[in-house]
Amino acid sequence: MTFTEHNHEFVWLNDMLIPLAQARVPVNDRGFLYGDGLFETLRADTGRVLFLTEHLERLGASARAFRLPFPAKVPWPERLAQLLAANGLSRGPARVKILLTRGVAPGLGLPEECRPTLVIYAEAYTPPSVETYAAGWPVVIFPAGRSTFMGRYKSLNYLFYLAARQFALDQGAKEAVILEADGLVSEGAATSLIYLHQGNYYQPDSASALPGVTVTVLGRGLAARGLSLKTRRTTVAQLKEADGLWLANSLMGLMPVAAVDGKPMPVSAATTFLQEVWADMV
Ligand SMILES: Cc1ncc(COP(=O)(O)O)c(C=O)c1O
Repeated sequence: MTFTEHNHEFVWLNDMLIPLAQARVPVNDRGFLYGDGLFETLRADTGRVLFLTEHLERLGASARAFRLPFPAKVPWPERLAQLLAANGLSRGPARVKILLTRGVAPGLGLPEECRPTLVIYAEAYTPPSVETYAAGWPVVIFPAGRSTFMGRYKSLNYLFYLAARQFALDQGAKEAVILEADGLVSEGAATSLIYLHQGNYYQPDSASALPGVTVTVLGRGLAARGLSLKTRRTTVAQLKEADGLWLANSLMGLMPVAAVDGKPMPVSAATTFLQEVWADMV
């Protein structure tokens, strides 16, 4: 039996594994009313969820920052395994999303008296082709700088990033580079940035960027090989002069950047090296 058709998809809604079509969240859930919630996007391969501990740590830290009670005693590995199996995703790559909202609760501010809504869903994920990974993605700079501490959290307020990504798509690019309010480079709309400069790997030093799981794990991988991933305050001009630039996130892993604002970037042998470092870590 296959469960791949839409009406056979299952989802965890709080403590129930139920068909997606039956999963209902009240319209006055604060996630819907205010974006009062958090999410994580994880990748699973052949039924194995990658870096679950790191994703849960980030989710837990964000929940603490926003006084959102973190659901206790959730048997995460079992739940995820059941979900992947129910959706026929025990083979091949899958996108897993964990969403945590404050649920229905009165009051503005961040009321701790609440019953959070926890949703976990999973669907098949088709990674970019081998040719795309080899050629890389064009990106553009999103001109409106981000000036909020919210960038450090994977909150449900992602409209800024959707608008930035659309700005890129409208120009035939695939990803947008987000700037800090002072014009320094921060990250991608759904990716962290890594670049090569004079033989060293860097990520932009950016106070309001999301602490990416992928880039953090990659840093560990580089350290294991005696290299380091340094942070550096980075201007757009420096980014465009880099000897190589990569996008990193949990789903795609590492994608080289082919061009920034139309300026071709070197897609160098370092891509193979970084992808090897990454592959060693997963
Ligand atoms: C804004 C932003 N930055 C960076 C990332 C990469 O984070 P991770 O490696 O944890 O997937 C994401 C992931 O979607 C993101 O949304």
